Amino acid sequence: MVTDPDRGRDIVSLGFVKDVQVANGSVGFTIELTTPASPVREQLRQQARQAVAALPGVGAVNVTMTASVRGSPSPVKERLIPAVKNIIPVASGKGGVGKSTVSANLALALAGTGARVGIMDADVYGPTIPTLLNAHTLPKPTAEGTVPAERYGIKIISMGFFIREDDAIIWRGPMLHKTVRHFLGKVQWGELDYLIVDLPPGTGDVQLTLCQAIPLTGAVVVSTPQDVALKVAQKAIAMFNQLNTPVLGIIEDMASYVCPACGAHDDVFGTGGARRAADRLGVPFLGEIPLATEIRKRSDAGRPIVLDAESPLARAYLTVAENLAAQVSTRNMQRELTPLVQIR
Ligand SMILES: Nc1ncnc2c1ncn2[C@@H]1O[C@H](COP(=O)(O)OP(=O)(O)OP(=O)(O)O)[C@@H](O)[C@H]1O
Ligand SMILES: [Mg+2]
Repeated sequence: MVTDPDRGRDIVSLGFVKDVQVANGSVGFTIELTTPASPVREQLRQQARQAVAALPGVGAVNVTMTASVRGSPSPVKERLIPAVKNIIPVASGKGGVGKSTVSANLALALAGTGARVGIMDADVYGPTIPTLLNAHTLPKPTAEGTVPAERYGIKIISMGFFIREDDAIIWRGPMLHKTVRHFLGKVQWGELDYLIVDLPPGTGDVQLTLCQAIPLTGAVVVSTPQDVALKVAQKAIAMFNQLNTPVLGIIEDMASYVCPACGAHDDVFGTGGARRAADRLGVPFLGEIPLATEIRKRSDAGRPIVLDAESPLARAYLTVAENLAAQVSTRNMQRELTPLVQIR
């Protein structure tokens, strides 16, 4: 028996095994995972091959690995944005903890595994995604809706494309609502497995509007490790709970500084706080990202660190992306509807 470690069940009863073909002692079949971002892909292939090869009369064994990301089912989503399977906001209690950097690197890490990914910069107050991804070709308005910008294989929409940097826009509730709904329903996203939404900090209007407009697969909360930051992160989690949006996990950012010259570690903001908070709140812990000058430099240069596959820092973001994708799969396999909240 071959067991999927994330679900603790065998891959046949989970429906992962497809297209079984037997001819003259050779056996071929496909294993379809629920995300291409699975760290156990090769392990499952090997185990399945061995299990079948051990059967009497079997000669050659041919295993094809594929993935089909499941979506969060909802009639409202079907109406507004049917081809986007999962909408995942990245939030934080307080500003400057690395949300936008996490959003960009997670989107790129997921795309790097073969998933179809988009990123929506919903930080209308200070959009940074176009700079982080060095994306300066404007989205195109068409009769069928806005065609998003595209960079490094991901689709991008941001208020940053539509305003000048020194423009001051005063956002009123109805304008925010209209913009968020436009970004969701009037953008030609095409088929996407994951749409990552970079939120402004805090628990304000954009968060409310997004949760109200559409059922989300679940939110990711970014926090630095120190107590004050975690207390505010807790507020973000409480907000999502109140809005019936599941929290898929917490990421600890700026976890430990590694001196590039001497290699010494310094826990500038403490360490392990987010993991402990996640345990206490019963929320999954998705991983930690070190505080590293290289991350900041790459972001400023518009080539996020994940694009540098050899970097151990890229590995940190990739691990978080894999853990997130696993949480998304688990959530969708539970096949619950995420209820839509009416804000009065
Ligand atoms: N792990 C990290 N190591 C070093 N610098 C980082 C790291 N993560 C983010 N930064 C830097 O910290 C600054 C703030 O990051 P970022 O803009 O991603 O935060 P944010 O939470 O989106 O901020 P805001 O709340 O203003 O939207 C940026 O200069 C970014 O390059
Ligand atoms: Mg930001």
